[in-house]
Amino acid sequence: MLIGNPPVELPAPPLASGPLLLREWAESDVGSLVDACSDPLTARYTSVPIPYTPEDARRFISFGRSPTALPLAVVSADDDSQLLGAVGLHAVSLTRRRTEIGYWTAPWARSQGVAQAALELLSGWALGPLGLERLDLYVEPENESSQRVAQRAGYKRGALVRSGIALRGRRYDVLRFTRLR
Ligand SMILES: CC(C)(COP(=O)(O)OP(=O)(O)OC[C@H]1O[C@@H](n2cnc3c(N)ncnc32)[C@H](O)[C@@H]1OP(=O)(O)O)[C@@H](O)C(=O)NCCC(=O)NCCS
Repeated sequence: MLIGNPPVELPAPPLASGPLLLREWAESDVGSLVDACSDPLTARYTSVPIPYTPEDARRFISFGRSPTALPLAVVSADDDSQLLGAVGLHAVSLTRRRTEIGYWTAPWARSQGVAQAALELLSGWALGPLGLERLDLYVEPENESSQRVAQRAGYKRGALVRSGIALRGRRYDVLRFTRLR
C-alpha cells in the first residue's frame, strides 16, 4: 500500500490562456469573493457558507490551500484584480495520480466560456505537468449548464453517485464526470 502524499505545488509559470489567468487567491480578492459567493446559484451548487461574509473569504484565502488542495482564482489576464471565477483541485493524490476538480463563475462573467476555459486549462496541467491520470468532478443532475461545461472540457459522464456530496449538512445525488489522461 502506498502511504504519504507529497503536497501539490502551484503551476509555474501561472496557467494562462487567451483572456484568462489562473493565480493564487490574495487578500485583495475579499470584496469580489464575497460578491461572487453571495450569488444564489453559486450558493446552491457549491459548499460556500450562506450568508458569505468577509471573514469567510479571509478564511478561504488563508487556509483553502493545503497539501491536497489547490484553489485558484480565475482572473482577467489584462487586469489580474478582476475576478471572473474559481477553479481548484481537491483531494489530490499524487501517489494515486488522481484528483477531484471544482469550479464556479462569478455571475458577472457567465456565458462567456470562462468555466470551460478554466477547466480545460487546469485539467490539461493536472494530466500533463502534474502527472495525474484521472480527474473526477461531481455535478448535480439538475445542473445541466455545469454538465455541458464538463463535457465540452473533455469529461465523460459516468455513474450517478447516491448521496455523493454534502452541502451544508444535506446530502445530494451527483453525476460523476471523469477525464483520463
Ligand atoms: C455552471 C457554471 C460554472 C457555468 O459557468 P460559465 O462560465 O457561465 O460557463 P461557460 O460560459 O463556459 O458555458 C456556459 C454557457 O455559455 C455559453 N458560452 C460559452 N462561450 C460563450 C461566448 N463566448 N458567448 C456566449 N455564450 C457563450 C456556452 O455555450 C454555455 O451555454 P450552455 O450552458 O447552454 O451550454 C456557472 O453557471 C456557475 O458558476 N454556476 C454556479 C456554481 C456551479 O454550478 N458550479 C459547478 C458545480 S458542479
